[in-house]
Amino acid sequence: MKIGYIVGSLSKESLNRGLAKAFIAVAPLGVDFVELPIADLPMYNRDLDGNWPQVALDFKQSILGVDGIVLITPEHNRMYSAPLANAIEWGSRPFGSSAWSGKPVAVTGTAPSNEATGLAQVHLRAPLVFCGSTVYPAEVYINAVDAGITPEGLFAESARPYLQEFISGFIDFVEEFYRD
Ligand code: FNR
Repeated sequence: MKIGYIVGSLSKESLNRGLAKAFIAVAPLGVDFVELPIADLPMYNRDLDGNWPQVALDFKQSILGVDGIVLITPEHNRMYSAPLANAIEWGSRPFGSSAWSGKPVAVTGTAPSNEATGLAQVHLRAPLVFCGSTVYPAEVYINAVDAGITPEGLFAESARPYLQEFISGFIDFVEEFYRD
């Protein structure tokens, strides 16, 4: 199984990138994780339809090439990040050929706060549902301080059970999705 992940932060010191590494560290063996990079995507503009830059074509193809996707977003002003919103737009166009359609997608994220990306995650579900993704229903709100998340991917042992439960549950969800 191939699981893609998107980190919604462009920061070199991103805690959300650290969270992605932590999930990979606790995930079951035999699952292939691949990042779907979004940092070089220009801002989506429908005037480019029919003449997309290669980076956008590659990004859309990368969504199609994985079995499921984990979106790991920071919370910016109570919203998911602008780079992630932009990536969702690229993946969703042209109208009628959304790469998100039918794709199993999990939503998570971390912040060094008690809000722990809760509001960002709630907002993020709406465009995914609209785009036809099959959204993993489980939620995990991770306070990066309590969970000991570092940009390098370290985490507190106390966080392992819920990190593991979330990612293993998503892998089961993806397996179930493709079962005949
Ligand atoms: C933030 N931060 C933040 N935190 C939070 O819990 N709720 C929020 O609404 C916001 N808003 C916000 C807006 C902007 C523009 C920035 C840059 C930051 C703080 C944020 O959680 C913190 O910077 C995280 O470290 C961001 O995640 P990455 O970039 O480390 O992955």
